[in-house]
Amino acid sequence: MTEDKLELLVIEGTAREGRKSIRPALYVTRKLNSRGHDTELFDLADREIPMLEHTRYSDNDKHPEDIEEFGQKVEKADGLVVVSPEYNHSIPGSLKNLLDHLYPEYNDKPFSFVTVSGGSFGGVRALSHLHDVALEFGGNIGPDIPVSNVGSTFNEEGELEDDNYIDRFESFLDDVEEHTARYS
Ligand SMILES: Cc1cc2nc3c(=O)[nH]c(=O)nc-3n(C[C@H](O)[C@H](O)[C@H](O)COP(=O)(O)O)c2cc1C
Repeated sequence: MTEDKLELLVIEGTAREGRKSIRPALYVTRKLNSRGHDTELFDLADREIPMLEHTRYSDNDKHPEDIEEFGQKVEKADGLVVVSPEYNHSIPGSLKNLLDHLYPEYNDKPFSFVTVSGGSFGGVRALSHLHDVALEFGGNIGPDIPVSNVGSTFNEEGELEDDNYIDRFESFLDDVEEHTARYS
């Protein structure tokens, strides 16, 4: 555990009705807050993120309010925790579209990853693509936790149902703290 109080932004990458990746997103947000960090969830389902027409960094007066807010939150955060399921062996288009609106804001930012699948692979192919994307941003890629069988691992309130994940998540959160404190 770090003694530094950190500001963390958890990014939930899907907005689909009945989505399940929101469950671990709620879980890590709660856990990081209970460890004393200032942690906020940026949830695509609560936002209006247009298809990319103007980036925040190239067209300052044309990007919408939610992109401006997203940019400010990314700039302010000590570190980002991206929560993403695997869609067709990659990350969801909704998440890629959100991330593409910014660029310099991510430079040197510590990134951590929670990936998710309905089956037993834990979204590892999405994780590999997330690494590529974050490296292109100049981000500092850090710890990850792939979550398999997300529908039975977490309940709808974002509580862990599978005890095998308790220690894995604690260890992941320790690593998020350490990585974020080191590079922020
Ligand atoms: C469009 C779509 C594509 C998917 N493709 C994959 C895949 O390639 N590999 C995999 O393991 N799971 C795949 N899944 C299963 C998802 O990872 C799983 O349903 C997860 O809960 C989706 O996240 P969400 O509930 O937040 O939308 C896919 C699901 C959807 C909706």
